[in-house]
Amino acid sequence: MKPQKDNKHRVLILGASGFLGQAIYKELYAYYNTFGTYCTDKYVYEKNHHFFQYNIEEDDVFEILDIIKPTIIISALRGNFSAQVIAHQHIVSYITNNDCKLLFLSSANVFDAYSQFPSYEFDKTLSHSMYGHFKIKIENMLLRLPKNKIGVLRLPMVFGVQSPRIKEIKLHLREKLPIEVFPNLIMNVTNDSKVTQQIHYIINRNKSGIFHLGSQDLVHHEDFFSEIISSLGYKNPLYKRVYTTNEDRYLAVLPKENKLPKHLQILSQDILSELEV
Ligand SMILES: NC(=O)c1ccc[n+]([C@@H]2O[C@H](COP(=O)([O-])OP(=O)(O)OC[C@H]3O[C@@H](n4cnc5c(N)ncnc54)[C@H](OP(=O)(O)O)[C@@H]3O)[C@@H](O)[C@H]2O)c1
Repeated sequence: MKPQKDNKHRVLILGASGFLGQAIYKELYAYYNTFGTYCTDKYVYEKNHHFFQYNIEEDDVFEILDIIKPTIIISALRGNFSAQVIAHQHIVSYITNNDCKLLFLSSANVFDAYSQFPSYEFDKTLSHSMYGHFKIKIENMLLRLPKNKIGVLRLPMVFGVQSPRIKEIKLHLREKLPIEVFPNLIMNVTNDSKVTQQIHYIINRNKSGIFHLGSQDLVHHEDFFSEIISSLGYKNPLYKRVYTTNEDRYLAVLPKENKLPKHLQILSQDILSELEV
């Protein structure tokens, strides 16, 4: 049966042509009036009235907001860091003056300077990387707004059949190239199908605040990659082991205060099962 469209929301996905943006669009478009942006020229999007070309470095996001008048904005962009900060300042001004909520895809890297423990929603963020640093900058801008206006969705590494990570692993296996693994890294993980269900739930149930959307269990990077490779049906891969520290280092976002229901939790095994040949 075709789902009934809920006209309550007009959803705009910034970065809808990307790995996660595309998956989110597919999850939501049958339920909400959904629009998206793409950056790189692509014929399929040019023909689709729900897609708008947007380059964060050249265009003002206001123009798209003005046309679409979204009630939910999902930020799934990559691109120049300072241009992203400016675009999010404009989005903040839009959501402050309109009935609209922003869901921002953030990253476990906002904690990449803390290595000894997994991180929870209200832990202080601190990063040593450019990427983590700029995610924190945007998060802090959003966390000053009324809580019901924002969702900060912190993601660990995202896998899934269509993910660039799995495609890259497959390519390296086919070409017999070494696959980089981080033996000291302990992390949690997720996949695109779980993230999109979680986002759908957050919109549908009008949830807000900070969400840690990683698997319930923790995995060693090297072990998890070797399990992925055997799930894909390959044996004896070549590894390049990268040691960044002598001790174990955590990069894991676990929920404690803002948990989603059980059916929206994920285990690392679920990611492997989806990949099995
Ligand atoms: N994937 C993960 O494992 C992961 C983990 C943690 C957090 N995140 C966050 O999730 C978000 C989406 O990640 P993703 O992996 O789906 O990224 P992605 O596949 O690289 O997609 C990025 C999107 O941004 C668009 N974009 C790139 N440069 C742009 C520019 N200059 N102006 C406007 N749009 C531009 C791309 O458009 P075109 O493709 O049309 O050029 C695409 O739609 C990011 O904010 C990322 O930090 C992802």
